[in-house]
Amino acid sequence: MKKKVLVVYYSQTGQLERLLKTMLSPLKKSKEIDLDFLKIESEEKFTFPWSFFKFFDAFPETVYLDAPKLKPFILKENDYDLIILGYQPWFLSPSMPIASFMLSDTVKKILKNKPVITVIGCRNMWIEAQEVMKELIKKCGGVLIDNIVLTDQSGPLESFITTPRWMLTGKRDAFWGLSAAGISKEDIKASERFGQRIAEKLQADYEKDYTSMLKNLGAVKADGRFVFSEKIAKRSFRIWGKLIRLFGKRGALIRRPIVFIYVVFLFTLIVTIVPLNMALSSIFRSLFKEKMDKILSKIELPSGR
Ligand SMILES: Cc1cc2nc3c(=O)[nH]c(=O)nc-3n(C[C@H](O)[C@H](O)[C@H](O)COP(=O)(O)O)c2cc1C
Repeated sequence: MKKKVLVVYYSQTGQLERLLKTMLSPLKKSKEIDLDFLKIESEEKFTFPWSFFKFFDAFPETVYLDAPKLKPFILKENDYDLIILGYQPWFLSPSMPIASFMLSDTVKKILKNKPVITVIGCRNMWIEAQEVMKELIKKCGGVLIDNIVLTDQSGPLESFITTPRWMLTGKRDAFWGLSAAGISKEDIKASERFGQRIAEKLQADYEKDYTSMLKNLGAVKADGRFVFSEKIAKRSFRIWGKLIRLFGKRGALIRRPIVFIYVVFLFTLIVTIVPLNMALSSIFRSLFKEKMDKILSKIELPSGR
């Protein structure tokens, strides 16, 4: 019997779409596998590139998973052997369109008792978003068996410039000595190894007892420098998000001044707390290596490095 695999994803610039299509090409080529792609779209289009206010005004609803309605979609099958969920974090949370999907009624039918692999394509801060995603998958009755994470080629600090530049202007080329934004072509090409492994393990029925397929393949590597920064930033997003939502709905003019104040606060956080935290995390890592390794290994579950 052919194995049926569903890939659900959202991709605003097309990066995650390219990644998934390349990564999963070995499944596409296999005569033993039927591969369906479902690209979800919300009724409200998130225009790319973003305007400055639309970008930052989106964070309260993203963090509170107050997601917009999705356009209707049709699935080819009712029952899949494996579900692959491709998503990108927005403000340390699953992006709004994918959150809409995870909160929809359909998802419960598709995911119940199904093995799930998450694929994340992002700048480099995905840990908090994946914790939310783990909960959402659990609530739908799905079982997370693997997680694949690909991050931008820019370093952690330069990507604070290159990614927002890409999101706000559409330009992702290298400039002023900084690397190009986004995931490198080489990393995308090399991701075929995951598809190859998934295709092999599907033939060996790994999905039937929810066994991880991607061990020892470098599917995920949590960066210790971000663990605490993400926690602090997520907390601030929640506090400020709650406050901003008191001023009105997303897009309301009345929200602009408070969103602007938050942006100033966020930039201050990025130039002070983030580098300080990265330095402190390095010290913490060297002093409490074992403890830190334990924290990172837990984050990297179920695939591991
Ligand atoms: C509103 C917004 C917020 C983002 N927040 C994060 C984030 O918290 N962490 C991160 O690593 N990347 C973040 N990114 C980058 C995305 O995860 C992703 O790399 C980029 O949007 C390209 O994805 P796509 O074109 O496939 O949708 C953000 C992007 C957007 C548009």
